[in-house]
Amino acid sequence: MELLKRVFAYSRVYWKRLVIAALASIGVGAMDGAFAWMVEPLLKKIFAEQQLFILSLLPIGIIILFLFRGICRFLNDYFMKTAGQLAVQKIRNDVYEKSMGLSMGFFNKQSTGVLMSRILNDVNAMQDGIANIITGFFRDGFSALSLLGVIFFRNWQLALISFLVIPATVYPAQIIGKKIKRLSKQGQEKMGDISSVLQETFSGIKVVKAFALEDREVTRFTECNRQFYGFMKKSIKYDALTAPIMEGITAFGVAGVVWYGGYTVISGKMTSAEFFSFITAMALVYSPVRKLINSYNILQRSMGAAERVFEVIDQVPLIVDPPQPVSIGRAAGLVRYDNVSFAYDDEKVISGVTIDAKNGEIIALVGPSGGGKTTLVSLLTRFYDVTAGAILVDGIDIRNLAVKDLLRQIALVDQETILFNDTIANNIRYGNFNGTDEEVVAAATAAFAHEFICELPDGYETNIGDRGVRLSGGQRQRLCIARAILKDAPILILDEATSALDTESEQMVQGALNNLMKNRTTFVIAHRLSTIHHADKIVVLESGSVVQQGTHEELIATGGLYGKLHSMQFKS
Ligand SMILES: Nc1ncnc2c1ncn2[C@@H]1O[C@H](COP(=O)(O)OP(=O)(O)O)[C@@H](O)[C@H]1O
Ligand SMILES: [Mg+2]
Repeated sequence: MELLKRVFAYSRVYWKRLVIAALASIGVGAMDGAFAWMVEPLLKKIFAEQQLFILSLLPIGIIILFLFRGICRFLNDYFMKTAGQLAVQKIRNDVYEKSMGLSMGFFNKQSTGVLMSRILNDVNAMQDGIANIITGFFRDGFSALSLLGVIFFRNWQLALISFLVIPATVYPAQIIGKKIKRLSKQGQEKMGDISSVLQETFSGIKVVKAFALEDREVTRFTECNRQFYGFMKKSIKYDALTAPIMEGITAFGVAGVVWYGGYTVISGKMTSAEFFSFITAMALVYSPVRKLINSYNILQRSMGAAERVFEVIDQVPLIVDPPQPVSIGRAAGLVRYDNVSFAYDDEKVISGVTIDAKNGEIIALVGPSGGGKTTLVSLLTRFYDVTAGAILVDGIDIRNLAVKDLLRQIALVDQETILFNDTIANNIRYGNFNGTDEEVVAAATAAFAHEFICELPDGYETNIGDRGVRLSGGQRQRLCIARAILKDAPILILDEATSALDTESEQMVQGALNNLMKNRTTFVIAHRLSTIHHADKIVVLESGSVVQQGTHEELIATGGLYGKLHSMQFKS
C-alpha cells in the first residue's frame, strides 16, 4: 500500500489530466450501462409491441452511443497514458539524479549494468503498471459500476445470487498476485544481470576479443536470458491461470442466475425483456471485471519493479553537505592531513597519516602498490570520508565545506582518461563550462595538445566518438590535462597520470604536467621516481602508514624503503 501511494504520488501532480480522463471514463461507463439498459425497452417495443418507428431510430441511437463512447475512450486513454508517461519520466529522472548524488562507495558495490537496468527496465515495468492501473481502475471501474447499477435495478435478488461467488475469487486472486510480484522481482533482477553482461562486454570488447572470450560471454548471456525466461514462464503461467480460475468460480454464479432467473420469468415475476437486459449487463460486466482482476496482477508485477527503483531513490548518500557550510572563495591551497585513518567497510587501509602541504608545494606520494596512495587522495576529494582524524583545506575541515565548493578547489588527473562522446572543445570544458574558446585553446596549448587537435578533421569541434577510440593514450591524457588546466584549481591531484604512456608521450605529458603544477598545491603519485625528485616533500606510504617523509636528498641519505625503491629503479 505504501509503495502504491508513493507511485501514485508521482501521478498526482498531473491531476488535470487525471480529472479529464476520469470524466471521460464516466462517459464510457455510462454508455455501457445505457446500452445494457436499452435492451429491455427495445425488446419490449420492437418485438412485443412491434413499433416500427423505434426500429428506425435504433441504428441512429446505436451509432451516436458508440460515437460518444469512442470519443470518451480516446480522451480517457490519451490523458491517462500521458499522465502515466509523465509520472514515469519524473521517476526516471529522479532515480538518475538520485544515483548521481550517491557516493563512490555505492558505485563500488553496484554493477553499472544493474544500475542501468533499474533506470531503464524497472522503470519501464513500473510504467506498464501505472498506465494499466490508472486506465483500468477508472474506466473498467466505472463501466463495472454502471453495469452493476443496471443489474441491481433490473432485479436485485438475482444480482445478489450472481455476486455470492465474488468473495470466493478474492483469495485465489491475492495468492496469484503475490506470486507474480515475487517472480517479476526475480525476473527484473535477472534483467539486471543481462544488462550487466551487455555493459561489461561492450565496454570491455577489446579484452573479450583479445582473449577470444566471445563464446564464453555468449554462453553467459544466453544463460542469463534462459533464467529470465524461467521466471517469465512461471509468471505467465500464473497470469494465464487467473482467468480460468476466476471464470470457473463465476460459472457457479452464472448457473445460479440462469436457474433462478428462468424460474422468475416463467413464474411471471419478471418479463423476458427485463431478463435479457439483466443478462446483457451481466455479460458486459464480465469484461471490465476481468480486466480489473488482471490489473491486479499487473499491479503486483509493477510493484516488484517499483521496489527495486525505490531502493535506489531511498539510498542515503554518505557524503553530504553540512547543514551550515563554511564558504570559501578560492582556497590558497594549504592542505593538511591530520592523523587521518580510513577503512573500506572493515578493512583498514590508512592509519594515522599526517601530511602538511603549503600552498604551491609539490607533495609526492610513493610506495609499493596497494600501499594506500590512491585511497589517500580520494579522501581529499571526499569520494570517501575519513574514519578518524581530519583533512583541512586552508585550515577548514573539508567536511565543513559544501562538497561543490570543495571540488572547485581540486583538479584531478589520473590514469583513467575518461573522455565523453562530445567535441574536443567540450571535453576540455568539463573543467570549466564557462571557459571561452580562447581559454580552451590556451589550456590545450599548455597541455601540448593544441598541435594534434589542429590536425584533427574538425579541429576543436571534432567529435571524439564513444570512449575516444580515435586518440592515442598520450593524446587522451593531454586532453585530460588541458581539462585540469582550464579548471584552474588551487589544488591538483595527479594519480599515476603518466604510468600508462610510452617514453615519448610521457615526456610531452610531463611537460604538460609541469605547466599544470605551476602555483598549485600538488599531490603527485608517480610510479617512476625520477619524475618526482624535485618534489618539495616525498611521503613514503607502506600498508597505509607513512614510513618516511622528506626531500629526495634527505630520504636518500637516510636509506630505508625510499632508498630501496630508488636503487631498484635505478638498477633497472
Ligand atoms: N573500493 C575499494 N574497496 C575496498 N578496498 C579497496 C578499494 N580500493 C582500494 N582498496 C584496498 O585499499 C588498499 C589500498 O589501495 P590503493 O589506495 O589503491 O593503493 P595504491 O594506490 O597505493 O596502489 C588496497 O589493499 C586495496 O585492495
Ligand atoms: Mg593507486
